[in-house]
Amino acid sequence: MSFQVDGTSFLDPFVVDVDLDNGAMPNATNHLVRRASNMRGYYQDEKALEALIADGDPLHYEVFEVPVPEEYGHLMYCISKLQPGRVGDEFFMTKGHYHTVLQTGEIYLGLRGEGYMVMKTPDGVFNSQPIARCKMVYVPPYWAHRSVNVSDEPLVSFCVYPGDAGHNYGDIVEQGFPKGVFLEDGKVVVK
Ligand code: F6R
Ligand code: ZN
Repeated sequence: MSFQVDGTSFLDPFVVDVDLDNGAMPNATNHLVRRASNMRGYYQDEKALEALIADGDPLHYEVFEVPVPEEYGHLMYCISKLQPGRVGDEFFMTKGHYHTVLQTGEIYLGLRGEGYMVMKTPDGVFNSQPIARCKMVYVPPYWAHRSVNVSDEPLVSFCVYPGDAGHNYGDIVEQGFPKGVFLEDGKVVVK
């Protein structure tokens, strides 16, 4: 059967395997891989990032998806796996984005590792919330979001968001976030 009502496609139900321990979807058809070299312009210490790139360009993070139509009514979902590490004193993080449809939120359920979801509004209000196993972060509509790993194992989370949300990376490339997450005197500091 194939039809749409008001632009929302009919789909048959399906099931997806999720590897909670390793942070993967074994049958993912979308597997996004970001290495250190994909993160130029995001970290404060550019020299430290270049040194990391020269030293084998390590894996930074992966996103696994079995996509659904990018339409109102559908729910996109993913497993995000962010490696542990630092660029200088700044903990590894994802690029971060607004949703293109700004009035769409997202849920992140922590599965493994520990870190923060750092968030900002278009007018520069900042917020950060802890992510860890058994914690669910609610990212409300309008908030740009980026995850940061402060643990020594991969930060794995499950996310779900409206299918038509879309991703706007450009505004974060231009604006950055007001605060980052750093190791300072042996402590994790959001500053
Ligand atoms: C989707 C979402 C996550 C991130 C993923 C990678 O809306 O927020 O799936 O896309 O954690 O982070 P970014 O997109 O910042 O590279
Ligand atoms: Zn998002």
